[in-house]
Amino acid sequence: MVFTIFGNPVKHSKSPLMHNFFFKKFNLPHCYTRYRLENGEKIIEKFKELKIKGANVTIPHKEWAFKLADEVRGVAKEMGAVNTLVLENSKIVGYNTDGPGFMEIIKNFDYKKPLIIGAGGTARAISYLLKADIVNRSEKRLEFFKQKGFNVYTWENFEFKNYDLIINTTSAGLKDNFLPMPEKMLKILFHNAKYAVDVVYGKKTPFLKLAEKDNLTTRDGLYLLVYQGVLAMELFLGRKLNKEEVAEIYFNILK
Ligand SMILES: NC(=O)c1ccc[n+]([C@@H]2O[C@H](COP(=O)([O-])OP(=O)(O)OC[C@H]3O[C@@H](n4cnc5c(N)ncnc54)[C@H](OP(=O)(O)O)[C@@H]3O)[C@@H](O)[C@H]2O)c1
Repeated sequence: MVFTIFGNPVKHSKSPLMHNFFFKKFNLPHCYTRYRLENGEKIIEKFKELKIKGANVTIPHKEWAFKLADEVRGVAKEMGAVNTLVLENSKIVGYNTDGPGFMEIIKNFDYKKPLIIGAGGTARAISYLLKADIVNRSEKRLEFFKQKGFNVYTWENFEFKNYDLIINTTSAGLKDNFLPMPEKMLKILFHNAKYAVDVVYGKKTPFLKLAEKDNLTTRDGLYLLVYQGVLAMELFLGRKLNKEEVAEIYFNILK
């Protein structure tokens, strides 16, 4: 069976490395490629043309995949975004493994009150399952969450509550050394929290460095990359996997 990742750009994606390593390790006769798709409207047409069994979908095509899949299942319905497409009985079915993948990361955390920093696509994916409050530097993107009944704040009207899990879903710290919120505010948050999770991967962000100073338990974006991949693989193969064992395989190849 052949799988791919659709995105634009897609060159940087680690998914082919992860999934091909998995296939090799278990002697499975499958192959995972990458496909730079310019026009998201053509995603299903391309899926059929390539005669593939499944695909991951990354920026900027997750909404097209949601709109055009024959059927959408699970949390993807609420999120309005699909990151995994699977051919099932001649139907192309859309799922989202970002939110459930995030929940895998924190499944052993003992938290009560989570706070998400950022209000973009990743925040949408995570917030549905996590039921967190949201804080963003500007107002526009918060509107979506407000409509859905979340407590939303900008930096200006933010209220410090007893948040014990702080999640950075912004791209601050990815290509720069910015924190996702003013340092003074983060210091207060970290002082009272137990856990900090960042979705940025490939470097230790200023956000995680600051959290470590306060001795918080931290997880970087590699965890999300790994666990969304593990759940996608379950969907591709149509069977449950030992998630921890597969995650270990992905961590090893990515490191
Ligand atoms: N680990 C993984 O597997 C994984 C999966 C998905 C995404 N990601 C990463 O997640 C990050 C966000 O992706 P996305 O698709 O959610 O992005 P997005 O939809 O473009 O949203 C970006 C968010 O970040 C905020 N932001 C950007 N720069 C900021 C700064 N300097 N200070 C404070 N806030 C800032 C934006 O605030 P405004 O609304 O004010 O502009 C917005 O809320 C990216 O770095 C991406 O690589 C990782």
